[in-house]
Amino acid sequence: MSLHDHSLLVLDCDPGIDDAFALIYMHKAGLLGAVTTTGGNVGTQQTAINARWVLDRVGGASVPVAPGEPKPIARELITTPETHGEFGLGYVDPGPEVWASEKEWPQLWGKRLIVTGPLTNVARFRQRYPQRYAEIEELTIMGGAIDYPGNTTDHAEWNIWVDPEAADDVFRHLPPRAQVTLCPLGVTEGFRIDPERLAPIAAALGGELGEKLPEIMRFYWEFHRDHGIGYTAQIHDLLTCLIATDAVDYDVEKRALTVDTGEDRGAVTTVTDPQPGHLPVRVLTGVDYEAAHAVFFQTIAPR
Ligand code: BDR
Ligand code: CA
Repeated sequence: MSLHDHSLLVLDCDPGIDDAFALIYMHKAGLLGAVTTTGGNVGTQQTAINARWVLDRVGGASVPVAPGEPKPIARELITTPETHGEFGLGYVDPGPEVWASEKEWPQLWGKRLIVTGPLTNVARFRQRYPQRYAEIEELTIMGGAIDYPGNTTDHAEWNIWVDPEAADDVFRHLPPRAQVTLCPLGVTEGFRIDPERLAPIAAALGGELGEKLPEIMRFYWEFHRDHGIGYTAQIHDLLTCLIATDAVDYDVEKRALTVDTGEDRGAVTTVTDPQPGHLPVRVLTGVDYEAAHAVFFQTIAPR
């Protein structure tokens, strides 16, 4: 991918079952230039193996994938195999995929970025490449529980909780010219795929991926059922990519944000009187879920 190709985006993710849907959509939409991964749902090498596994099975073998930073910027990595399975893809073991990324992850980053894992790589990129960071034009992030209950602690959403120092660093030092959009839990939790919704998706994808998606999702459905949500699954990261690519109409409101790195780890709060340079982000407040499902299906269904 050329850093100057404005039509393509980089997806920085931690697949992760809902990240897998994000990868499928981005590739099928023809918008994916490269993939880098973070540790979050599972470790950083495993998330890269998983991204490669998904892309290879959806016709995306030529999309470069590189693992990012091995751990959060100021803490040890904690992962969540109880949510996404031992290897991060539910009941499916992607095996020890053998491949070598030709490039280190920062070489793959351009000016348009979607982040569906912890903000570790973004914070490191800012520290190491301030000039390139300042040139970012679009940054769309899945994360945060804003005026809404968390899914990890009472106030924290998982991606922000894993690396709160990175998230706080990014929210305080946003790339000055970028359009930054945060897709928080209060909206993404409402975007769900249940077995009935998956059946035509798996059929449309076909092949090994179509065959294995029900086994990937069964784990996620059982997790949601065990948490009282029902036999369905929240597909946060796919919705985030649909927003990032302007595939659906949505509403936002602007807020300057900080992240608690202490006792209330990962809680995101609005700053009413931000310091100069502490820029607001566009916080997603609403989207038409049915329109989002329709766009996703049209994108993956064979024409
Ligand atoms: C986020 O955390 C992860 O488990 C999901 O992949 C999503 O990015 C939701 O809190
Ligand atoms: Ca994710």
